Amino acid sequence: MKTWFHFLIKRKKGRLKTIEELEARPASGVFRLVSTTKILVMLVTAIAITKPARANGLRKEPLVGYLGLQKLSAVNGETQPAKHQEVGHKSLLQSDALYQYILETSVYPREPQAMKELREVTAKHPWNLMTTSADEGQFLNLLLKLINAKNTMEIGVYTGYSLLSTALALPEDGKILALDINRENYEIGLPIIEKAGVAHKIDFREGPALPLLDKMVEDVKCHGSFDFIFVDADKDNYLNYHQRLINLVKIGGVIGYDNTLWNGSLVAPPDAPLRKYVRYYRDFVLELNKALAVDPRVEICQLPVGDGITLCRRRS
Ligand SMILES: C[S@@+](CC[C@H](N)C(=O)[O-])C[C@H]1O[C@@H](n2cnc3c(N)ncnc32)[C@H](O)[C@@H]1O
Repeated sequence: MKTWFHFLIKRKKGRLKTIEELEARPASGVFRLVSTTKILVMLVTAIAITKPARANGLRKEPLVGYLGLQKLSAVNGETQPAKHQEVGHKSLLQSDALYQYILETSVYPREPQAMKELREVTAKHPWNLMTTSADEGQFLNLLLKLINAKNTMEIGVYTGYSLLSTALALPEDGKILALDINRENYEIGLPIIEKAGVAHKIDFREGPALPLLDKMVEDVKCHGSFDFIFVDADKDNYLNYHQRLINLVKIGGVIGYDNTLWNGSLVAPPDAPLRKYVRYYRDFVLELNKALAVDPRVEICQLPVGDGITLCRRRS
């Protein structure tokens, strides 16, 4: 009988053993006893390691959805090792435990106090699933500093975690045009943003983003005026946003589209049990990814940070 632990690859004398080699090993009585003990230890360890990650509460969706958590994949009824276990395959996030390791080693210890506070307040909100993850917040903050961003835009604010990470990265006279249809959620984070001393950089506008973008596109003064634009709102409009934002971002500036791996659902089999909203937006995200991949106006890089973020650098 095949079980998940058949796919834990062991290293022996510096060489990775294949699953076939492991399974071909003679199963003497002593070996079976040792193996069973090891398996029990591994099981207990795996449960102990992954429990805190699941209990973390902020990430409600499986981290790597249909890839990383799927140790086995069924091909013609046969179970196969997941690709990331093949020699030479480079995949960072193979487990919730690894993600938790990143958070606890590199993200949480360096997270500014205000962002921590906002993350904790947001975790209690019923729609907390929407918040930007802490690792992505850290990524955005560093990226903005790397490109010396000053004039930025954010579409999709919610309680303001990515907004705060942006505001903290910008210079004193930096600006963020922040658009969202819901001001109420922004006001949850606003006192924390004010306490952090960065509210003066934010120009929040309540309402659907598209009509406002249309107005800006009509005004040539707005053309090429943004160093960075972060899009984290209605996925069915991303391509509409792109057609407008490409005029508003400066040449050499960056647009970041969030959720471009969409819970890993992009590669889910057709009969996969997806949540309704995941299934609905999946086709739009697939279309966006296809369009960005062939858009000559931008250079792109799709990163597996958070739920996937595609960076587009305007080249002309
Ligand atoms: C995923 S949340 C944004 C999360 C946010 N970046 C953060 O760090 O917490 C998506 C937001 O987009 C907003 N939104 C949805 N449709 C919109 C639209 N047409 N125009 C502007 N904002 C919209 C929602 O109200 C919601 O707050």
